[in-house]
Amino acid sequence: MITFRHNAWILGTPETTYIFRKTKTGHLEHLYYGPAIAHAESLSKDDLAAMSVRRVFPAGNMISYDADHSAVTLENVNLEMSSRGKGDIREPFLEIVNADGSRTSDFLFDSAEISESAPDLLTIPCSVPWQGDPEKAPDHLKIVLKDAAARLKLELHYYVYEDCDVITRTARLINEGESNVTILRLMSAQLDLERADLQMTAFRGAWVREMARFSVPVSGPKVVNASACGTSSNRANPFVMLHPAQTSEDAGFAAACNLVYSGNHWESAEVNAFGQTRFLAGINPEGFSWQLRPQETFEAPEAVLTCTDSGFHGISRHMHAFVRRHIQRGKWADEIRPILLNSWEACYFKINESTLLRLAKAAKDSGIELFVMDDGWFLNRNDDRHALGDWTVDRKKLPGGLSGLSDKIHGMGLKFGIWIEPEMVNVESNLYRTHPEWVMQIPGREHSEGRTQRVLDFANPAVVDYMTERMSSVFREGRVDYVKWDMNRIFSDVFSPYVASLDTDPIRQGETAHRYMIGVYRLAKNLTEAFPSVLFEGCASGGNRFDLGMLCCFPQIWGSDNTDAISRSYIQEGYSYGYPMSAFTSHISAVPNHQTLRVTSLATRFAVSAFGISGYELNLIDMPPYVRDAVTKQVELYKIWREVLQKGEFYRGRIPGADSVSVGQSGYPEGLDASGLYPGSGRIHEWTCVSRDRRYAVGLLLQEMVTPNSPFESYFPRGLDPNLRYKFTNLDKSYDIRKFGDLINTQAPVHVRQDSLLHRTIARFVKMPGEKENHVLLGSVLMKAGIRLSPAFAGTGYSDGVRKFQDYAARLYFMEAVDSPEEESDS
Ligand code: DGJ
Repeated sequence: MITFRHNAWILGTPETTYIFRKTKTGHLEHLYYGPAIAHAESLSKDDLAAMSVRRVFPAGNMISYDADHSAVTLENVNLEMSSRGKGDIREPFLEIVNADGSRTSDFLFDSAEISESAPDLLTIPCSVPWQGDPEKAPDHLKIVLKDAAARLKLELHYYVYEDCDVITRTARLINEGESNVTILRLMSAQLDLERADLQMTAFRGAWVREMARFSVPVSGPKVVNASACGTSSNRANPFVMLHPAQTSEDAGFAAACNLVYSGNHWESAEVNAFGQTRFLAGINPEGFSWQLRPQETFEAPEAVLTCTDSGFHGISRHMHAFVRRHIQRGKWADEIRPILLNSWEACYFKINESTLLRLAKAAKDSGIELFVMDDGWFLNRNDDRHALGDWTVDRKKLPGGLSGLSDKIHGMGLKFGIWIEPEMVNVESNLYRTHPEWVMQIPGREHSEGRTQRVLDFANPAVVDYMTERMSSVFREGRVDYVKWDMNRIFSDVFSPYVASLDTDPIRQGETAHRYMIGVYRLAKNLTEAFPSVLFEGCASGGNRFDLGMLCCFPQIWGSDNTDAISRSYIQEGYSYGYPMSAFTSHISAVPNHQTLRVTSLATRFAVSAFGISGYELNLIDMPPYVRDAVTKQVELYKIWREVLQKGEFYRGRIPGADSVSVGQSGYPEGLDASGLYPGSGRIHEWTCVSRDRRYAVGLLLQEMVTPNSPFESYFPRGLDPNLRYKFTNLDKSYDIRKFGDLINTQAPVHVRQDSLLHRTIARFVKMPGEKENHVLLGSVLMKAGIRLSPAFAGTGYSDGVRKFQDYAARLYFMEAVDSPEEESDS
């Protein structure tokens, strides 16, 4: 809801309120963003005055705004947008080089318009006219500000999504004058808060180490989370939270922001000398500039804001709902996603039709639904140094071409998917030889390579048109059901030959990175609209472009090239703060794991991957029958529960380092919940995913390292209906007794030499049953008191009914509401 009263705009959602007012000088003063204020829509003049900073005299050596308002010093006014040159010396929202070379701007209120439904929905990758669903249109407030001297108009747009407690903001700058101006920055959101007790939590990392949570106090020097990689990047995801140090998973104030953008971004927070915090988010101004000619408009990407007083879970709840309802779109947004087998970690570049068909057959036998041929399928693509850009099938590897392979895969009753990387080119390619001018590189300068490939100049519409055509014909030929859209290098030597051809003014190269993103969004739009039933998955060496812009294009993204279950538990936990589980895919791969050489059990790998869009990425053909059988059972189980896992609400329970602010060298938070005995011991990841109707839930306990003699463990699910009773079960377990080594001799009537023929023979016939959980329990008991699980092996307890919970062990728990509360349980 949006209300205008006493010169103030009050934006309300059920759980949040956002207020700003017009000042006597014509600026917009921010008054409040926080948990909902009751009766906010009927605030009195006095209520609003109480929230406004009173200004009677200018203090110290600050700049008085003008003679009529000498007490107004913009340096300490909480503003909705700020600029340079009129006394506000903080990081600005907007910075312009005017026609005369000056950089001062002063945007004052001109008009405002509230509309019940958005005339043009802005939840889009900027400047690409994608419509959201008009049914889901939010309330919309447009404020127009003008800098009369520069003849510039600035529109601030606010969209209020009551259904998920989100307010989005964006800005448009329109040149109403007759001269060119240069935009040095136009941010998307500014949040000036009358408090100085916040930390910024950001999610940072590197390749195969995405989304590690870092918290830094914002108290004086500026804190910046930004990417200059050309992508939103795995170094610094654009999702950030601001909160006091004491905010926990469940309690306390937190505000959060994400950008609907996939390129260079910037989120900064600073506290001025008066205890006021300024937060800004938008396109990274470093390296950016944009020439705005008369009558042209520049539009900033949309920023997504939310806040809560229920801790980080409150933020996650709002953000997950927003992503699911307003960002993910198209046929697959709310569809059950197929379980796939991807060829990459099974074969890498060594693919050919017969291997792929054998893999596909094994996948089909295990109940897998989609077979994906990853990199390596096109001519000369035997390594990563060749052929990117030439999308001609390698007939030696695939004699029947794409269509031949596709027919055979479809003939097996599988869907067929393919890997592409349309934004890139190898120098060793026909495309590069024919069109060197289509590549981002600086004439006369040696280019630095990344994965021996270069970035195509997507600022050039001709390149986007060409790739639309090439990719369309690949998709048509392969009759593909799924596309993995990869992007495997960051930018260097940024220069667009196309931008250079537009204008000789060298300043315009500052437009390149943003124009590139607009080109990428256009290609994505062209292809997703032309192939509406294809499931697209984003990827950039894993999570190097995991953001809301990409999720507008593709409903799911490959979250990391790291398929190790333990690493993944951190990475997925990191994503879960800002993104729902339906946004990230997670595969079960071979052990020793290809990224860490760590060995975890198939059960643990499955358990972690089930909390995401699950799939397999291993050589099933080489797996012994018992592993293939286990995979078949996992696939069956996942199919039963994936409605809950893919569409349900995700809850973090205990997680390592949840209340910690420091981060170790490894990039992982230091665990504070350890028993204190050994580093890493006792680190538990406790997750729950609950169906939308709260009748079904799946839980996970994952332990990194066992704590000796600690048999007792509880599991605390979350999000259940406190009034319902749930049948609580685990999976049947049976252990190979060799897992207990020579402890067998504590039970066996004759001595058994470890790993001897006798040991192996006994193991073939004698299995050790695992613990069984089977109870009917009240939701409220489960959530508040938790369930005490069967005791774990603790140096003693070599028997069935004991939980063998060793290093990297995981357990899945299943909860199903029972209609008759009196139903008997085994407990
Ligand atoms: C990087 C991706 O993240 C991998 O999954 C794989 O598709 C390779 N590229 C292929 O080159």
